[in-house]
Amino acid sequence: MAIQFYENLSPEVKAVFKLDTPNTSYVIGVVDTEQFLGHIYYGQRLNDYHLAHVLRVKEGAMVPSVNNRDRVAFLDSFPMEYPAGGLGDYRESCIGIETAAGNMGLSLNYVSHKITEGKEGLSKLPASFGEKNECTSLEILCEDSLTGLKAVLSYTVFADVDVITRSVRVVNDGKEPLYLTRVYSACLDMDDRGFEAVSLHGSWARERHIQCVPVSHGRLSVESIRGESSHQDHPFMALKTKGTDQDHGEVYAMHFVYSGNFKVTVQSDPFDQIRMTMGIHPEGFKWKLMPGGEFQAPEVVMVYSDEGLGKMSRTLHDFYRNHLIRGTYKDKKRPILINNWEATYFDFNTEKLIAIAKQASELGIEMLVMDDGWFGNRFDDNRALGDWNVNEEKLPGGLKYLVDEVNKLGMKFGIWFEPEMISPDSDLYRAHPDWAIAIPGRTGSLARNQFVLDITRREVLEHTYESVARVLRSANIEYVKWDMNRTLSDIGSTDLSADRMGEFYHRYVLAVYELQGRMMEEFPYLLLENCSGGGARFDPGMLYYSPQIWCSDDADAIERLKIQEGTALIYPLSAIGAHVADCPNHTVGRTTPFETRGHVALAGTFGYELDVTRIPEEDRNMIPEQVAMYHKYNDLVREGDYYRVASYSENHYFDCYGVVSKDKKEALYTFVQVLGRPNCRSRRIYFKGLDPDVRYRVEGEEEVYLGDVLMKAGYLVRDLHGDFKSRLIHIVEVK
Ligand code: DGJ
Repeated sequence: MAIQFYENLSPEVKAVFKLDTPNTSYVIGVVDTEQFLGHIYYGQRLNDYHLAHVLRVKEGAMVPSVNNRDRVAFLDSFPMEYPAGGLGDYRESCIGIETAAGNMGLSLNYVSHKITEGKEGLSKLPASFGEKNECTSLEILCEDSLTGLKAVLSYTVFADVDVITRSVRVVNDGKEPLYLTRVYSACLDMDDRGFEAVSLHGSWARERHIQCVPVSHGRLSVESIRGESSHQDHPFMALKTKGTDQDHGEVYAMHFVYSGNFKVTVQSDPFDQIRMTMGIHPEGFKWKLMPGGEFQAPEVVMVYSDEGLGKMSRTLHDFYRNHLIRGTYKDKKRPILINNWEATYFDFNTEKLIAIAKQASELGIEMLVMDDGWFGNRFDDNRALGDWNVNEEKLPGGLKYLVDEVNKLGMKFGIWFEPEMISPDSDLYRAHPDWAIAIPGRTGSLARNQFVLDITRREVLEHTYESVARVLRSANIEYVKWDMNRTLSDIGSTDLSADRMGEFYHRYVLAVYELQGRMMEEFPYLLLENCSGGGARFDPGMLYYSPQIWCSDDADAIERLKIQEGTALIYPLSAIGAHVADCPNHTVGRTTPFETRGHVALAGTFGYELDVTRIPEEDRNMIPEQVAMYHKYNDLVREGDYYRVASYSENHYFDCYGVVSKDKKEALYTFVQVLGRPNCRSRRIYFKGLDPDVRYRVEGEEEVYLGDVLMKAGYLVRDLHGDFKSRLIHIVEVK
């Protein structure tokens, strides 16, 4: 049994839950006559459950039932499993309430539990999944005796991967309505071992750069209140012990399966204990729970690694590939696409698109994606969002004609939408100005000259769904790029009463999930790629609906190294939308070799974002070779184990990463020389992930090396002269 319950362990520790994954254990204790839930242990797998002695309950006056005089001291230092606020625990709390009388404290104490095989889904929310033989779940019921508020803490451990998922369901079993002012999904209390916090930050075109800072006294938080997971911050944090690198050291990671406002905090308390929490951001959140009402908080994915960040990455990659990503394309090679955004922006018509498709199909590209600008009066980005009718001036003969022509070339067809938005200059806004999110009486803040539709309203959601579905039903469309180009602001909904306005942000995210869930149910063959002005809604929540997400609007091969390094720290390469774009690059003006652009895009979904009829001939001539490269390596890239070998963020000169097949018979390493260095003719790299006892040959070379040698003594990358040069190193087993 992967989850065990042991009782009568000591006078203070009444019971223990031990949750095991293949290599990790997580232990929770029920403590004292008040049945507090304490966190005992998370780390390398343990064989024994006798751990009650490490829980600090017996110290001095710390047992509240023995010495109630110092109850506050107990609450403020005890390692809680799911801490509630207001009664004496002054660290970040996981749950907050406001009763009808305006009172705020609560205490959630153990009542009962249930252990089952398999895993239930979460109502209206994306969540990881597993069959009965793949995972075991635990539900711990806790209750606040005064208000009758119940919290069900849910945990699942997986048999094939070192992940524990957590979520919380809150039920108002009292007689009075109350407000939830905060409901986090997970907490981890443990001793501070001099941790450093790893998180991901950026901006538009610069998403998910890795940051590592020491954890110290005071609270460190990473958060978004933008209504989406955001370009700027990411719902992820890992705590690592000092000196931890890719291959060594301990890591505790939390990743949020959610696409809206979030907050992750870590703090070191006066007793040198760490508290790490993750959940929906409390700012702008207030949820009314009527008697009998429930609130489901989203899921957190937790990973412990004792082999550095690299093992954490591989664990998350495996987990998302096997237990979160769904649908037709889950384990499938994706069609190589060509997207017309950077090729034409708004200046296109049927003729131009067919010319691009014709040339692309001859080169081996498999799908044309028509981006922004095909509908309403959308000749620039100032208008027409919401008017999802084909612009026949641009597309004479309509959408079906275009799609059929593209299909005749042997290519699939994909289309862009931004369903959640409304332009003030649109027929939709003229007909329904109240459909935009707005504070009555206040001039709304525009972003990219657009407002956000209030899809928390049923009629708006239904209209939005039908606008998209009608188009998808009208032609053979096999791919959708679902974009979202602004953050939420000016929160106000005509459908929500004053006492429910604090529910808006979360209801908005639920509405997005409902829309995408319905779309994938009606059109299950679709390849959905989420996008948000590049990668502002790149999160595990969206990954549940779309197996790939557009990573960044910056397709410059060099900028992409950092962006993709940060993204691949926690997401499988199969999820990372990556294209070869034209040069000089539209975002940074840099010119890089076409070959390097291809090599960098290979570490993602792979596609093109350029006018293939107008790029230099020598670049165009390389496309069939790149197409062949994609077909040769994509299985390995999509399914293999990812290893970070060197980071140019650290060494300033070169980047190197690899994917190794699960059976270790094959590996592909990508080496990018970002800057040439004078008087430096070769670079030694130490491959990772190979079988030390297997003999390998580097494709194109005669010599045979033992895996051990390639990893310990290394391999020399020679003869790369100049900046932005790259090389693929393909290694195969020799029998
Ligand atoms: C932002 C996306 O990231 C781009 O790829 C493109 O689709 C534009 N929006 C279109 O407005």
